[in-house]
Amino acid sequence: MTDRKLHGEHMLTEQGKAEWESRNAQASALAESPYKKDFPLLSHNPDLAFLDSAATAQRPKAVLEAQKRFYEKMNANALRGLYSLSVRATEAINGARAHVARFIGLTGKHDARDIVFCRNTSEALNLLAYSYAPTVLEPGDEVCITIMEHHSNLIPWQQACRAAGAKLIYMYPGDDGLISEDEMRAKIGPRTKIVSAIHVSNVLGVANDVKLMGQIAHEFGATMIVDGAQSVPHFPVDVTDLDCDFFAFSGHKVFGPMGIGVLWGRHELLDAMPPFLTGGEMIDAVTEQDATWAPVPEKFEAGTQDAAGIYALDAALTYVEGVGYDAMQAREQALVAQCMRRLSELDFVRIIGPADPALHHGVVSFNVCTIHPHDVASILDMDNVAIRAGHHCAQPLLAHLGIDSCCRASLAFYNDSADIDRLVEALKHVWSMFHGYGFARPLPHLLPDPKWGNFQKRRDGDITPLWAWQ
Ligand SMILES: Cc1ncc(COP(=O)(O)O)c(C=O)c1O
Repeated sequence: MTDRKLHGEHMLTEQGKAEWESRNAQASALAESPYKKDFPLLSHNPDLAFLDSAATAQRPKAVLEAQKRFYEKMNANALRGLYSLSVRATEAINGARAHVARFIGLTGKHDARDIVFCRNTSEALNLLAYSYAPTVLEPGDEVCITIMEHHSNLIPWQQACRAAGAKLIYMYPGDDGLISEDEMRAKIGPRTKIVSAIHVSNVLGVANDVKLMGQIAHEFGATMIVDGAQSVPHFPVDVTDLDCDFFAFSGHKVFGPMGIGVLWGRHELLDAMPPFLTGGEMIDAVTEQDATWAPVPEKFEAGTQDAAGIYALDAALTYVEGVGYDAMQAREQALVAQCMRRLSELDFVRIIGPADPALHHGVVSFNVCTIHPHDVASILDMDNVAIRAGHHCAQPLLAHLGIDSCCRASLAFYNDSADIDRLVEALKHVWSMFHGYGFARPLPHLLPDPKWGNFQKRRDGDITPLWAWQ
């Protein structure tokens, strides 16, 4: 098990150290975010350190206003009416569809038709597991995913495999937190029909080389699906360059509204698939005993769409383009480096995942020695610091790491170093509440093996969290 653990500081190369230092220098220029004023929730709560953007991001004013504008100026059931208000609502959806297509690197004249609006990433992946998988999976076939998957890209494949008599195969990261080509080649093979991988891990923050994974999948005639829920909020995605077959993401993680998600798929695959949900708007013709389907994307968009949400997602993408991924990434990387440096100065905190901050896309997971993550998060909340604690919908990953829970600070470009200061001070508060102000260092027997990315120890062959045996 130890050989699978993600290593700590000793993994940092000389180049990594230099980059770390230079990012820290940059970070001192991050004292106050110029972007918080764009986000009403943040500007109305100047004392809040919101460090849970991986769960859901805050929305800029432009997005909130777009949603309101839709209901005030365009509200009608899109696609159904022949009057001008309904036509305007339809145009809003079509405009957003074209924008999403451009946003993920599609430039063809008809590419927008392959953008399917759904509720979120979970629904997009379920659509594939229920509509696509049965068309390709047979008993004995394999679906290959990573151990880092969010449950949204794991349970649908468990279900699909169970239904088809297929096998679910896992790829594991090495000590650097990354899935190597050797591991991909060891797991993807002639029996593989589907490879579905998380682009950026919501726990480790690492980005998987889904392009290489897709190339290997294609060598064996398998389909490559990418869960982009945590990549689109952090860096530009070009599905043409990735050469994947399906890509899914959620609007609410990319500063858009909740309840809107996107599935992109290769046209010929979408075209050949049966619908997922049936009902209004997704049909061509219906008789008493039968029905034929509308073309893609309507075939997959049964019922009334969240047109206001789609229109507001359009505004969110415009906002991201306005800030620019370059500026977003520069701030985020500097903040992540600063956050990791400050946390590593607390000897009762252990960061989970690779030591190199450049590998953490907005996410810094950690544990506090002897204190359960739920207690940590609750006490941080008393100091107005919002982080997430728990299994992060990634129980198999946490089991692989030998933990059942951890804390996660997730950053976006709108955060600033004041947020990190608050996190650090609040963590000192947590520690002092449990161990007293005079007790600065963890008891020596509780100090973890430094190469382990968490505070756990083997006892009687079991892995037991230290907080559980105090
Ligand atoms: C990597 C990843 N995939 C999928 C999801 C599910 O997203 P949603 O809840 O928007 O369906 C999440 C949510 O945190 C995630 O982090």
